[in-house]
Amino acid sequence: MTREVLAYYAQDLEHDRLREGRGRLEFWRTRDVLRRTLPPPPARVLDVGGGTGVHAEWLLADGYEVDLLDPVPLHVERAARVPGLRARVGDARRLPVPDGGADAVLLLGPLYHLADRYAAVLDTVNLGTYLEERQREAAHAAAADGVMLSPRRGFTAYFHHPDEVAAEFAEAGLTVAHRPG
Ligand SMILES: C[S@@+](CC[C@H](N)C(=O)[O-])C[C@H]1O[C@@H](n2cnc3c(N)ncnc32)[C@H](O)[C@@H]1O
Repeated sequence: MTREVLAYYAQDLEHDRLREGRGRLEFWRTRDVLRRTLPPPPARVLDVGGGTGVHAEWLLADGYEVDLLDPVPLHVERAARVPGLRARVGDARRLPVPDGGADAVLLLGPLYHLADRYAAVLDTVNLGTYLEERQREAAHAAAADGVMLSPRRGFTAYFHHPDEVAAEFAEAGLTVAHRPG
């Protein structure tokens, strides 16, 4: 994890990000997609990069068994307060879980939400920051090559093109069963 990403998460902005304001739209949308695509409870879910447990919380309430992994100790500390949640520090690149150790694995965030590269333009328009030259240029640069240096957040992110994702999964030895709409 780069220092800039760690410094960003050390600000403790993640806990409330999906719990209030317009972030709730992402929360509801993600929950809706997951409820339609996950195996029915009871099942074991590994939430990799699960942050402070925002999704783990409702997954537990739905009857899933949830393990959360995140490299930011502050996130894990907060997640560990969710009753019934097993939270530990870890990295998506070195999963401390054997093959078959979970029925479903979530990776919502470490690949920067698997957002497609037009997300930055849409996001800046939505936030009203599209009118700021630096924000607009960064968003358009991201749409062109996927690399986004976020002036607002202060870290670099990579936005995948939707058409790249299946090939990247195949390269990592994973099979894409289907892409939810
Ligand atoms: C934008 S947050 C998303 C949190 C939560 N999954 C959600 O959907 O709200 C991205 C999360 O990915 C975590 N992360 C970053 N790099 C990671 C890595 N290499 N392995 C696992 N998690 C990582 C961060 O610590 C952070 O909690």
